[in-house]
Amino acid sequence: MRILAVETSCDETAVCVIEASGELGDFRFTVLGNALISQADVHAPYGGVFPNLAKREHEKNLVPLLTQALSEANMLRTEYSDISLYSTALGVLEREHELRVQLEKFLGSHAKPPIDAIAVTYGPGLEPALWVGVNFAKALAAAWSLPIVPVNHMEGHVIISAVSGDESSKSQVPGINEIQFPLLSLLISGGHTELVLSREWMQYELIGQTRDDAVGEAFDKVARLMGLPYPGGPEISKLAAEVRGTDIARIALPRPMIDSGDFDFSFAGLKTAVRKVVEAEELTDERKKAIALEFENAAADVLIAKTMRAIEEYGAETILVGGGVSANTHIRTSLAQAIKDYGLGTRLLIPPPNLATDNALMIALAGYFRAQKGEYAAANSIKAQGNLKLHA
Ligand code: KG4
Ligand code: ZN
Repeated sequence: MRILAVETSCDETAVCVIEASGELGDFRFTVLGNALISQADVHAPYGGVFPNLAKREHEKNLVPLLTQALSEANMLRTEYSDISLYSTALGVLEREHELRVQLEKFLGSHAKPPIDAIAVTYGPGLEPALWVGVNFAKALAAAWSLPIVPVNHMEGHVIISAVSGDESSKSQVPGINEIQFPLLSLLISGGHTELVLSREWMQYELIGQTRDDAVGEAFDKVARLMGLPYPGGPEISKLAAEVRGTDIARIALPRPMIDSGDFDFSFAGLKTAVRKVVEAEELTDERKKAIALEFENAAADVLIAKTMRAIEEYGAETILVGGGVSANTHIRTSLAQAIKDYGLGTRLLIPPPNLATDNALMIALAGYFRAQKGEYAAANSIKAQGNLKLHA
């Protein structure tokens, strides 16, 4: 089955084409085309993602990315047709004028590609941004008479980690072969900090979550306090790495909720503690590095302590980390070390850093598994849902 996927939930615009077959256990896939534009530079001056700006950028980027992904997949064939044939299909883009103009031109000059379904992120995320992708998918599906599979962005993070996460695997063929349940997922991104338990494939129970800021959001806000550009996670991580293992003078930050006895998190207090440190003394380069190091350690300590306790409590056989913050080297290596130290034999799956942050491959993979379950949606019933949940 060939799937074209569209992702626009935050500040990455992405389109991907995959060919996939099989079920969990004998799953196989090939990436035929994969295109992405990050808007990080566009949002950097605002210190975070600015929703209406994100919407405009998605509108501008989708057709060029569609063209690139189809071209990589060898599916781009010039063929002229009467654009009036597409006027009903394009009607859904009434509020995305620039996108409509570009798509009309594209449809009028290209043949329908050999695709079986379109997968699109419909939540969670920024609603104005999500709507651009949803309407684009609806227009394409109507123009090419294809079914649509609506995808939960967080399920995309789970599934791409399950597929690509095993660094010790000898297999050359990507696929989800040996997941043992219960599966525990630590989902850490700019919008989420959740521990989710799956007793079977694609079933989710929420075990714990942040009560205030997401951990990625805390990285971004702390970076901003120190005058570092957005996104802050990689910036803080870079500064911390420069002084990790040296005898730099330490700063003390709290480990919020580390002994709370439940699986919830809180990162707002940690950010406030950083603000106090920043305001107390002149922010030299040395001090920035010391703060970055202690903040990264504090965030990692809490995430890992709670995750290890959840592994024990629920007898998790596999643990998976997903979302942009799973690109963090210190969190990756400390969690791997903790699992080793506990001698639990739990299998750890973390995607390579380039697949940890938002992309359309994860949406294509989740879309494939949802399509296998027959979960297509009537195009006019799909609505962007900013607060969409993974669990019932
Ligand atoms: O999953 P993602 O790309 O988008 C959301 O769905 O939120 O995650 C983005 C978040 C940002 O907050 C970014 O600062 C953080 O992931 N991030 C990192 C690292 N790379 C990205 N945080 C810590 N260390 C990193 N290396
Ligand atoms: Zn994400």
